Amino acid sequence: MWEYTDKLKEHFFNPRNVGEIKHPDGVGEVGSLACGDALRLTFKLDESGRIKDAKFKTFGCASAIATSSVLTEMIKGLTLDEAAEVTNKDIADYLGGLPEQKMHCSVMGREALEAAIENYKGGGKKKHELHGNVVCTCFGVTDKEIERVIHENNLTTVDEVTNYCKAGGGCGGCRGEIEKIVEKIQGDKVKEIPVTVPRRAGKLTNIHKIQLIQQTINEQIRPALRTHGGNIELIDVEGNKVVVAFRGMCAQCRLTEFTMKDVVEAKLKEFVSDELFVEEDKDSAQQSHNHRE
Ligand code: FES
Repeated sequence: MWEYTDKLKEHFFNPRNVGEIKHPDGVGEVGSLACGDALRLTFKLDESGRIKDAKFKTFGCASAIATSSVLTEMIKGLTLDEAAEVTNKDIADYLGGLPEQKMHCSVMGREALEAAIENYKGGGKKKHELHGNVVCTCFGVTDKEIERVIHENNLTTVDEVTNYCKAGGGCGGCRGEIEKIVEKIQGDKVKEIPVTVPRRAGKLTNIHKIQLIQQTINEQIRPALRTHGGNIELIDVEGNKVVVAFRGMCAQCRLTEFTMKDVVEAKLKEFVSDELFVEEDKDSAQQSHNHRE
């Protein structure tokens, strides 16, 4: 379970400024429903150029709702130059902190605000624009965005980068590239991460295989899915077939097929056995299909 502050819970249960401003001066959008988090921020200025009103709509978890709510409160009364100085850390601090795995919600708020200010100033696109080269294709995160969250939050591991901007939390194919960026910026400060799951053993007994599968799900797969509000349950192991059920956001996500092969199966092959393959439990697959229709 995540540890939420009282302030975060209060903003989650009583979010301020939900909705959309009619004829706004600025509109910012970030995220996508397919990835589980999306935020739309609108604001209106007064005659002196200060933010008179701000509203949000979000599709996301408790942290996404609470961070969006406080952000709209924080920026009211500010000039656009002052609002542009608000960092994701300011948003998290205002809430008395966020679970590490949810820090990407504060980054999403900062990005939506920047997009809305750019939209006002340049009349440009409302959608948060990518700058730099895409490093993580699963979540569309660029090298510039990764460098920025590392600098602003003093991050020293790939997992921390995943917590702050999702990069590396899907198939994992970009983690080597992220590691190089972390090393380039942090040098000696890079933390050594102990690998707790044993590398693949030789021949496995059935019991040992099931234990390793469960351990790999618990330590390597579930944390990545939880970052996006999802979860996974081991249903059965029949020979080399591993049957799983997706829960939470993963059960509603159109990327479930991708997640199953590129995240779950790849991790089980890496840590348990090359011969394993993964199938979704029939009942949960049917429910997911109905939900996605
Ligand atoms: S490319 Fe980054 S997690 Fe897949």
